[in-house]
Amino acid sequence: MENMSQNEKKRILSGIQPSGDLTLGSYLGAIRNWAALADEYDCYYMLADMHTITVRQVPADLRRHTITQLATYIASGLDPEKNVLFVQSHVPAHAQLGWVLDCYTMFGELSRMTQFKDKSAKNADNINAGLFTYPALMAADILLYQADLVPVGGDQKQHVEICRDIANRFNGIYGEVFKIPEPYIPPVGARIMSLTSPENKMSKSDKDQNGCIYMLERPEDIMRKFKKAVTDSDACVRYDPAGKPGVSNLMQIYSVATGRDFDAIQREFDGQGYGAFKTAVGEAVVELLRPIREETERLLAEKAYLESVYRAGAEKAGHVAGKTLNKVYKKIGFLAR
Ligand code: TRP
Repeated sequence: MENMSQNEKKRILSGIQPSGDLTLGSYLGAIRNWAALADEYDCYYMLADMHTITVRQVPADLRRHTITQLATYIASGLDPEKNVLFVQSHVPAHAQLGWVLDCYTMFGELSRMTQFKDKSAKNADNINAGLFTYPALMAADILLYQADLVPVGGDQKQHVEICRDIANRFNGIYGEVFKIPEPYIPPVGARIMSLTSPENKMSKSDKDQNGCIYMLERPEDIMRKFKKAVTDSDACVRYDPAGKPGVSNLMQIYSVATGRDFDAIQREFDGQGYGAFKTAVGEAVVELLRPIREETERLLAEKAYLESVYRAGAEKAGHVAGKTLNKVYKKIGFLAR
C-alpha cells in the first residue's frame, strides 16, 4: 500500500457488539488475546453499536452496555494508550463507506450468509434491511482501517470472506484502494461453549441464562452455574469434544483459566467425581474474573476518564478512516467538497 513503509507494524481491527453483557466466551475467546497483541501490532478495537440495531435494542440498555463494555475492555488489559478503543457510531465514515459498499455487494451473496439466515429465523417479526446488509457495514469497518488482520471467532469467518470479496471487486474496478484483510485466529484462542447446551457457542444472546457466564457476574452466581453445568454419566474427566462435549468444555475453560494442559487436568481429577471438578472450574473462573470485575466497577465511577478515552479513540480512528473514505469518494467520482 502507498504510505506504508516496510517497518510499520501490521494493523489489527476487531469489534464486539455492545448488545449485552460480555461473556466468559468473549473474554477467553477474544479480549484476553487482544491484550497480548498491542506491542506487535497497531490495534483498533471497536464497540460495534451500529451493528446492534439490526436487532431491536432498549436505548438506555444500549448506552449502558456500550460504556460498560469500554470499561471492561480497559479492565481486561487493553491499554487505551497502546490500543485505539472507539465507538463505531462516533466515526461517521463507517456509515458513509457502508453505503458505498452496499452498492458493491450482491443480493445473492448476502442471501447466502449463514448469520443472516439464523438471525432472520430468530427475529421473524423484524427481518430488516440492515440485518441483510450487515456484512457490507462490517466490510466497511475493516476496510476503512486498511487492516491486515481481523481476529474473529469461527462464526465471523464468513463475514471476513465476504469482506475480502467486496474489497477485491472494488479494487478490480478502481485499483488498489483497499488492503485485503486476513482472518486471524490467535495462537492461544478458545471456543467456549454453553454450559447447558455444550454443542452451542456460549452467547450473550442465548435465552438460557444458565448456559452463559458473564464477565461481571457475582461469584455466587458463577459457582451456581458451574455446579449445574451439563456433563455426562461416565464420571470421568477426559478430553473428548465429540463424545463428552460438556466435560471437554469445562476442561477447556479450566485449562485457559489455569494454564494447565488437558493431561494435567485429567490426572488432577482422576478418580474424583464431577462435583469436585465443577467446583474447581467455578473457583478458577471466579478468581480469573474478580480483578476485572473490580477494575470495571472502579472505572465506571470515572465517567470523565472513560469519556476522554472514547473521544481520543474516535479522533484517532476518524483520522485513519477519513483518509480511506476520501480516497474511495474520489475513485467513484463524487465531486470533492
Ligand atoms: N459482526 C461482529 C460480531 O457480531 C462484530 C463486528 C462488527 C466485527 N464489525 C466488525 C468484528 C469488524 C470484526 C471486525 O461479532
